[in-house]
Amino acid sequence: MKIVTKIIKSNLTHDIRKEILWPHITNNDYTLPIDNDKDTFHVGAYYLNNIISIGTFTKQKNKLFKPTSQYRLRAMATSEKYQKKGAGKLVFLKGLEVLKRNEIELIWCDSRINAIPFYKSLKMNCINKIYHIKNIGPHKTMYLSI
Ligand SMILES: CC(C)(COP(=O)(O)OP(=O)(O)OC[C@H]1O[C@@H](n2cnc3c(N)ncnc32)[C@H](O)[C@@H]1OP(=O)(O)O)[C@@H](O)C(=O)NCCC(=O)NCCS
Repeated sequence: MKIVTKIIKSNLTHDIRKEILWPHITNNDYTLPIDNDKDTFHVGAYYLNNIISIGTFTKQKNKLFKPTSQYRLRAMATSEKYQKKGAGKLVFLKGLEVLKRNEIELIWCDSRINAIPFYKSLKMNCINKIYHIKNIGPHKTMYLSI
């Protein structure tokens, strides 16, 4: 299965955000306030010209961590039919490549509990405190020094 990753425009993330991440949204707004910030970028994985996995990388410091140049991974998801085929990993690695080039020191995310094994497989570390995000559920903070 040949999957290719690209930097994509934010609106191309909306279908998978809707399908996988935010089915509770009723006003059809699948944007994040940071989507079009100058330091934000979106990665899409394509299979046969269809986007099957997405991730949004945004410059944001988490005060749990020391480095000044940090990025946060948000709205990471793979379309249900294509999960566990390596697409999410390719999205993450493409983002990481961009961050390394830009000398970013750390990436972190709020991980849904079900996604922790995915992030662990990418060598991310886990902070052992559970917190709840409204409409979505329990999360833990994951991070990786780059
Ligand atoms: C989490 C998610 C993004 C992973 O994407 P994916 O394309 O299925 O992941 P990949 O196929 O690239 O998996 C990469 C590795 O993680 C592992 N992995 C992925 N999901 C896993 C899971 N739920 N449990 C255990 N391992 C998992 C894979 O087995 C693979 O391991 P390997 O490299 O040793 O073979 C996807 O399952 C998803 O969209 N889940 C629902 C939405 C969600 O929870 N998003 C995260 C929000 S924080």
